[in-house]
Parts: sequence; C-alpha cells; structure tokens
Amino acid sequence: MTTDPETGSLTTHDAEDDARNRDIRIYVNGEIVHRDDAKVSVYDSGFMLGDGMWEGLRLYDGHWAFFDDHMDRFFNSCKAVSLDVGMDRAGILDALTRTAAANGMTTDVHCRLMLTRGVKVKPFQHPSLSRSGPTLVIIMEHSKPADGLAARGIRLATVPQVRGLPNSQDAKFNSHSKLNCVIACLQAEQAGADEGLMLDPHGFVNTTNACNFFIVRRGEVWTSSGDYCMNGVTRAKVIDLCRDNGIPVFEKNYSLYEAYGADEAFLTGTFGAQTPVAEIDGKPIGSGDRPVMARIRDLYKDLIRQDIAAQAVRAAGPA
Ligand SMILES: Cc1ncc(COP(=O)(O)O)c(C=O)c1O
Repeated sequence: MTTDPETGSLTTHDAEDDARNRDIRIYVNGEIVHRDDAKVSVYDSGFMLGDGMWEGLRLYDGHWAFFDDHMDRFFNSCKAVSLDVGMDRAGILDALTRTAAANGMTTDVHCRLMLTRGVKVKPFQHPSLSRSGPTLVIIMEHSKPADGLAARGIRLATVPQVRGLPNSQDAKFNSHSKLNCVIACLQAEQAGADEGLMLDPHGFVNTTNACNFFIVRRGEVWTSSGDYCMNGVTRAKVIDLCRDNGIPVFEKNYSLYEAYGADEAFLTGTFGAQTPVAEIDGKPIGSGDRPVMARIRDLYKDLIRQDIAAQAVRAAGPA
C-alpha cells in the first residue's frame, strides 16, 4: 500500500515504490509465472473460506532471516488445522530458492508464502471437499520499508475490535482469514489513524492489527502477556535481545493508562523490523526521542547479520 496523498496515512507495510515489482514472477504449485498469469481457482479453499496459513519472510544476502523460526510456526499452524503441507521444510526452502532465482533476487526482498487446503469439489465449507491437495503460492517483492515511517512514526487509534480468545480463532494462527485484523484496520482508518491498537477481551493493551506492540517506561520494555497476539518471530527476538543485553523486559498486562504515558512505543514485524509509534488516540508518545528502541534496532540488525552469516556457513557445508 502506498502513502495516501490526501490523508498522509502510512501503514507499517509501506515500502518504497519499486518498478521491478510490476514484472515479478510468482510460484504457484511448482510453476513460476509472471504475476499477470499467477492464478488460483475460485474454488480454492483460501479464496472461498480463508482456509490457509501464511508466513512473511525477509531475504538478506541470499538467505531467509530466522528461517527455522518461521518454519516452526508455519508447520505448527498447519498441523493444528490438519493442513498437510505436502513437503518438508527443505522442500519449502527449495521452492523459495527457485522463486528468488527466477526473480534474480538476493536482498531487500519480502516474501509472502501461502498455503491453502486446495481446490474444493463444491462451494461449501467442509474440509473434506478440498481434494486437490494443497495450493502453495509464493509472492516475492523487492521491498525496503519506507523512510517516512522511521522519521514520522505511526499513528495508532484504539479500536473497538478486540483480539479473540484462543478457543474462538486463536490469534497465533497466521491464517489467510485476517478479517478480525482487517476490521480493526478499517476502524483505525475511520478514526484518522494509520493502524489499529487492539485490546484483549479484558481491556488490556494487546497488539496492533498487523504487528506486535511494545512500550518503554523508565528504561523498561513492556509488551502484552502474549496470550492474545500473534506469536511474532520479531517479537520473540526483541524479547530475547533485551534479556541478553541487560534491558529489563516484561510480558505483562497493562492498560491504555500506561501506554499513553509511555516514554516510547514501537511495533515489531518481519516487514518493518521495529517501527516507532508517534501517537496513540491523538496523544503524542514521549518526547519523540527513542533511545531504547534505537538500541534494540541496532541489536536486531546485528542479530540478522549473525543469523545470515550462520546460514551461509551451513549452506557452504564442511570445509
Ligand atoms: C497480527 C500480526 N501481528 C504480528 C505480526 C508480526 O509477526 P512477525 O514478527 O513474525 O512477522 C504479524 C505478521 O504476520 C501479524 O499478522
């Protein structure tokens, strides 16, 4: 999505425009075709019901950052809904590698890996009607998060749509159906903000419609208990980095009272890493100085470098 010229609206997924994306090649069940020819059936379970799982990944110097963490979540999600991936993680890596090669991509790339329950024989819900085997689609785009985000920061609005209990639709599922998040995003837009800040069923601050949410108070980093939000790979890395580098970090319940009064607030996600929050419900957050987030961002960049270097060593094999 691009910046709205009228409202100046930004999203955490704004990227610099890149003309090369008009001609990318997309993986559809083993075939790699021009984006104009990349199609799935109207009977596909993903189109019909949102019955599928996906992962967002980033490519740096020819390697997918935190690949194993993404695959742990992806395979766990698919297993939890009896969705047979049809290949192991080496097969997924091979499909990713082929798609990147077909596009001549090595770095500054964002990928959406999507798996659905496949094509149905009738337009009804029952999973047994999906008989084609799964549909696997991989979209890779040249992508650098837009500079405006880091400079201006995102504006959040608290929205009426809440995160659900795990016994309705567990928020840990990165499912094709994102209607809960889409409704939250629409509500935020209607309130004149960029993205929605979502509460949990008890009224505690939880997460945004597309990213995980952190605040900084008196040098401490706080994020939700994790009970109602996406188990974000970036969220977990930030928590680990804080623990390993002497930054006090807490996964806990807190309310808007503490969020409005925070010194800093930021979002995390694979696409944008750490994105500063400028205001919540029209209230500016802190003074605009973000020393803790800046430190975390540097630590996170280092962690990616280490992960990519380790993958390069593994790929090269024994000396
Ligand atoms: C609702 C929501 N929260 C958070 C995230 C961030 O997760 P990650 O850090 O694994 O990209 C995502 C990404 O898909 C998401 O959809």
